[in-house]
Amino acid sequence: MKRFPVLAVALMAAVACGKQESMPQLTERVFKLASVQLPWQSSQLDDTHIGRTFEGDTLVTTGITYWVSGFLPGSLWLTYEYTGDEAVKQAAWKETRKLQNLVSRKTHHDIGFQLMCSYGNAYRLTGDTTCLSILRAGADKLAGRFDTNIGLIKSWDNDKWNYPVIIDNMMNLELLTEYGDKDVAIAHARKTAVEHFRDDYTTFHLVDYAADGSVIKKQTVQGAEDGSAWARGQAWGLYGYTMMARETGLPEFREQAEKIAGMLLPRLPEDGIPYWDFSRVGEERDASAGAIMASAFIELAGLTRDSVLSKECRQMAEKQLRTLASPEYLAEAGTNGGFLLKHSVGHKPGNSEVDVPVTYADYYFLEALLRYRN
Ligand code: GLY
Repeated sequence: MKRFPVLAVALMAAVACGKQESMPQLTERVFKLASVQLPWQSSQLDDTHIGRTFEGDTLVTTGITYWVSGFLPGSLWLTYEYTGDEAVKQAAWKETRKLQNLVSRKTHHDIGFQLMCSYGNAYRLTGDTTCLSILRAGADKLAGRFDTNIGLIKSWDNDKWNYPVIIDNMMNLELLTEYGDKDVAIAHARKTAVEHFRDDYTTFHLVDYAADGSVIKKQTVQGAEDGSAWARGQAWGLYGYTMMARETGLPEFREQAEKIAGMLLPRLPEDGIPYWDFSRVGEERDASAGAIMASAFIELAGLTRDSVLSKECRQMAEKQLRTLASPEYLAEAGTNGGFLLKHSVGHKPGNSEVDVPVTYADYYFLEALLRYRN
């Protein structure tokens, strides 16, 4: 990738003067970068692929059925929301429309992530009603994965397990609460709160169920150990219950989110960005988990009735955003394959995407900045 002139000049000037950059200045700087990086990445992609990561100087792409396919369109929509730039909007539509046939393909639970970030943001920002049939069809498809005996949506169709449900699945429920069967979302969130969470409010990654709804096994896939706290899994839990509290107004989900926040806040490192697993202090950080948590902490700060927790959540989110916007984590324009953030961990036990950019880190970073501003 060609290098662009350094956009971090404003930051360096502020630091040189000994003045802390304001959050509006920081936000402006990041969205200016996003306006360069994300359209460039889009320009490198064909009609059936989306950017996934950047490794060995190569932009690694993936087909549209892979779970991350909604994040580039989503990041472009968020950048358009901030900048109002028509060229960014065109790129956002281009990337969104790649997913228009997703509902007629064989899918998995992640259709929630895929459609809410792309078509959900497109509808929210443009009001284009052609998005609605796709969002509703996707929600029906997701609800079709719910088994009434088990009381949960099945995450993966995979012979390794009988009926696997991963904590990540909490994120897909917003497609149901907005465009489908809210009761299915509520049932899924209720049973997940009972079976996934430990007494200290850390969560298992995967719970496998028998046909009668009883638990076969609780384990990890992407974390360090079955009993450890995989950082992104904790982030999905915090975000998922905060979102369900907003979408349903039910106190039980707000309380679950508050307990998860209460577990996380004292365990996060000084700069706010978690190690990839809470049991692996000193190993790689996971910027994606930091960005997801920041976005969730800001929303929870506005929902909780506990004023101390509210303040702590907002302070932690600001710390996380400042760290992510520092040169340690934020790429320079023209580098990093068109991604914004460096240093995420996809699947360390599988030796896949370790200490690299990932497209979902960028999405939740931009969302967190918009939420902080609002
Ligand atoms: N949802 C998959 C992951 O968080 O890696």
